[in-house]
Amino acid sequence: MSAFPVLHHHLLFLRPRLHLSLRPFSPRLRRPVFFSAASVQCSSASSSSSSTASRDDIDEVAEPPGVPSPPGSGRETQQLIDVNPPRGTRDFPPEDMRLRNWLFQQFREVSRILSFEEVDFPVLESEALFIRKAGEEITQQLYNFEDKGGRRVVLRPEITPSLARLVIKQGKSVSLPLKWFTIGQCWRYERMTRGRRREHYQWNMDIIGVPRVRAEAELVNAIVLLFERLGITSSDVGIRVSSRKVLQAVLQMYAIPERLFAEVCVIVDKLGKITNEEVEKELIIAGVTSEAVKGIVEVLSLTSLDKLEAVLGSDVEAIADLKKLFSLAEHYGYSQWITFDASIVRGLAYYTGIVFEAFDREGKLRAICGGGRYDRLLSTFGSDDIPACGFGFGDAVIVELLKEKGLLPDLGRQVDDIVFPLDEELEGQASMVASTLRRKGHSVDLVEEKRLKWVFKHAERVNASRLILVGNSEWQRGMVRVKVLSTREEYETKIDELN
Ligand code: HAM
Repeated sequence: MSAFPVLHHHLLFLRPRLHLSLRPFSPRLRRPVFFSAASVQCSSASSSSSSTASRDDIDEVAEPPGVPSPPGSGRETQQLIDVNPPRGTRDFPPEDMRLRNWLFQQFREVSRILSFEEVDFPVLESEALFIRKAGEEITQQLYNFEDKGGRRVVLRPEITPSLARLVIKQGKSVSLPLKWFTIGQCWRYERMTRGRRREHYQWNMDIIGVPRVRAEAELVNAIVLLFERLGITSSDVGIRVSSRKVLQAVLQMYAIPERLFAEVCVIVDKLGKITNEEVEKELIIAGVTSEAVKGIVEVLSLTSLDKLEAVLGSDVEAIADLKKLFSLAEHYGYSQWITFDASIVRGLAYYTGIVFEAFDREGKLRAICGGGRYDRLLSTFGSDDIPACGFGFGDAVIVELLKEKGLLPDLGRQVDDIVFPLDEELEGQASMVASTLRRKGHSVDLVEEKRLKWVFKHAERVNASRLILVGNSEWQRGMVRVKVLSTREEYETKIDELN
């Protein structure tokens, strides 16, 4: 008899609160997670005190009753475990995994085309890497905890600090510039909206050691190339570009100390997300004069480089950098994708120069990707600075956009051959046929104990190219029967001639 209790499928929709104290294994029963109704009730009373929890976290579903068990079975109080993954996270059943792999393949292909090398980092990082004082949202959304050795660790919310850590670790042994890409999972305790989750995968491309705007131009080229490969056009999506040096110039105009720069950027990024008055209040608390606040708000509303030049003068670096990017964009052939928008500041503290964000032109979704120059991140980790620039591109918003535009690919299963013994006694022979084909690199599904009708249906479902039937009389003659499913052609072939 199975060691698992029978699953009551009608209970699968019930969602007990899972951030409770679960005993992962019952030593007595030696089987995985089931927990008692008593432990549900008493721990749920103390489990809802997280200060970051929003209404989003409140499950509107009633606590499930316990699964009735036969008296004396020893499982009177057990109930079905929540079959949903933790809130804001995803399972990837095969069809979702196919989509994810396909998307990652596009990311990898664009990275290869741009001649970037793949790198990887641990999802678990030291908390110190993410402690920043500028008040960024990301640092308040950390999944952080102490490990069993008493070390403060986090599930990384982004990848850039890990990349900076590796650049520092490699030191002078590497020759610059580095062009690195990575695809990895990131964790943020976010309020969930469409395309925003508590776990997401990010494709990052970063160029280390190039101070010139060429780096930004290359990165935008990569993003545009990706969109084009996915069938997205410049009338679907645009890339807004600005430079943090714009804000820097405004702060200089008002003699605001340089040390406030990162904090001011983080606050200013909230324009449009909270009211102007709230932003103004935060800026004044940070030490910005109300006159400067007015100046900042005015400049950030500009959407033309000429107007910006008229306000800041032509000798500020921001203007020169942005002009250079727009001029290179012409040569690359992607200028229709990019627009100047001074309100783009971005919410991460470490950006220092050009910043950019891709957005859907219908305005239905959050930013599709974002990045910029971060020339001073390394020195915040105690190293010498190296100019750096990059972007992060999430897997969630882009899939929403592809759905909206009807551009999701049709990704069925792809099996080359199905091998089926027509007789139970031929299981050894069928294994031999499957093994021979697999050695040749075919994807082979070996099926047995099914009716032929089921096998044909299955072949259709998995998009198999051929059905290879191992039958007694054919086998006696050293043959198998092959059915080509696309043409319905059927023939016999020698086993050693199967290709
Ligand atoms: P970020 O703007 O925080 O930048 O994130 C980059 C992208 O990751 C976003 O535009 C979005 O596509 C995706 N993303 C972020 N948070 C979530 C979420 N909660 N759910 C789904 N998708 C999300 C960074 O992380 C920088 N480190 C990027 C970078 C690399 N800058 C330089 N190099």
